[in-house]
Amino acid sequence: EMPSEEASTFSEEQEALVLSAWDAMKGDSAAIALKFFLRIFEIAPAAKPMFPFLRDAGEDAPLESHPKLKAHAVTVFVMACESATQLRKTGDVKVREATLRRLGATHVRAGVADAHFEVVKTALLDTIEGAVPEMWTPEMKAAWEEAYDQLAAAIKEEMKLAA
Ligand code: HEM
Repeated sequence: EMPSEEASTFSEEQEALVLSAWDAMKGDSAAIALKFFLRIFEIAPAAKPMFPFLRDAGEDAPLESHPKLKAHAVTVFVMACESATQLRKTGDVKVREATLRRLGATHVRAGVADAHFEVVKTALLDTIEGAVPEMWTPEMKAAWEEAYDQLAAAIKEEMKLAA
């Protein structure tokens, strides 16, 4: 857990930077989800077989035809937005206990390691920068990073318990 004096620096402005970017992107979430996954697999090709729905579909199946791919991408964006709001309100990220337990178990089962969270973070930031270049600033980047990092820390912590 992050020390509260650090977490409590998450401001209303930072929350707005996170929410405004997603608000501008979400109307195009199918295309955004696809770009996000392509970027993940560009950075870490080895991550591809972790996703059972991609493995089962075979090498040549087009990525955009997978509804679960869109669902995972949108979940990561939406949960990072929820984290931003919680960080601003309470200085901490709380995921509902049942949800967190399931997330820990799912990711352990899929073979996800801590390093993959870094890959997904980079892909997330690159995707936002590509989607809303006119909004992108170092401040926006830092706000998304913090919201994502604290969410990832909660999931990784739960993964240790589930392993
Ligand atoms: C499944 C969220 C990071 C790979 C899921 C599910 C959610 C989720 C909600 C659906 C299953 C469930 O609810 O238990 C997130 C969030 C992340 C994150 C919020 C980051 C903050 C990652 C990373 C990887 C990954 C880093 C690996 C590159 C997977 C895989 C599944 C999954 C393979 C199972 C898919 C399936 O069986 O259909 N994730 N995830 N996730 N996630 Fe993530």
